[in-house]
Amino acid sequence: MYYTASTLNGFLADEENSLAWLFAVESDGTPELSTQLGDVGADVMGSTTYEWVLREERLLEQPGRWQELEYLGDRPTFVFTSRDLPRPDGADVRFLRGPVAAALPEIAAAAGGRDVWLLGGGDLAGQFWEAGALDEIQVSIAPATLPGGAPLLPRRIGPDALRLRRAERFGQFAHLTYDVVR
Ligand SMILES: NC(=O)c1ccc[n+]([C@@H]2O[C@H](COP(=O)([O-])OP(=O)(O)OC[C@H]3O[C@@H](n4cnc5c(N)ncnc54)[C@H](OP(=O)(O)O)[C@@H]3O)[C@@H](O)[C@H]2O)c1
Repeated sequence: MYYTASTLNGFLADEENSLAWLFAVESDGTPELSTQLGDVGADVMGSTTYEWVLREERLLEQPGRWQELEYLGDRPTFVFTSRDLPRPDGADVRFLRGPVAAALPEIAAAAGGRDVWLLGGGDLAGQFWEAGALDEIQVSIAPATLPGGAPLLPRRIGPDALRLRRAERFGQFAHLTYDVVR
């Protein structure tokens, strides 16, 4: 499941990887993340997202903070990177590189039959799509646009492959849930 927030014109972050446009949006009525996500057994993200989380949440400076954050917790988290990156003390962070298809068995085993939450970014979501491993997209669309930045899903995927299952309103967000069909 690829679950993320996006600008109205399809960006996850601006050119400086800032989410200021997102945090400025009124989100009253947004259910608990756990309610929306369901039963997640493992998280997956790319290194830009990981480094953003480390930096913004100051996770390297605060041992134990990773586990306290609702959107991270004690689930195994897989980070795709070709580099050697730091890992916060005590966090179950596992680094992967190379084709997504080759990593799928390890991710599925860690999730233990539960869902896998792909946090981003968009190209990594595209790699999961190409590997046939993207089954659901949930996107919260913010009332904001950007001139450029990190794209939501830079692949050509047609309406034959996406089925709108649910459209909800959370404050100023339009929250759309799509099934990915093959
Ligand atoms: N709006 C939201 O809710 C939301 C959600 C998620 C993320 N974000 C933000 O959106 C931006 C996303 O950044 P991004 O598009 O650059 O994506 P990203 O997926 O976070 O990071 C991309 C990087 O991951 C590594 N990578 C990707 N696939 C790989 C593979 N198969 N093997 C090895 N390494 C691989 C590469 O870096 P290296 O090999 O150099 O490490 C690549 O440059 C970030 O600013 C993030 O904070 C926003």
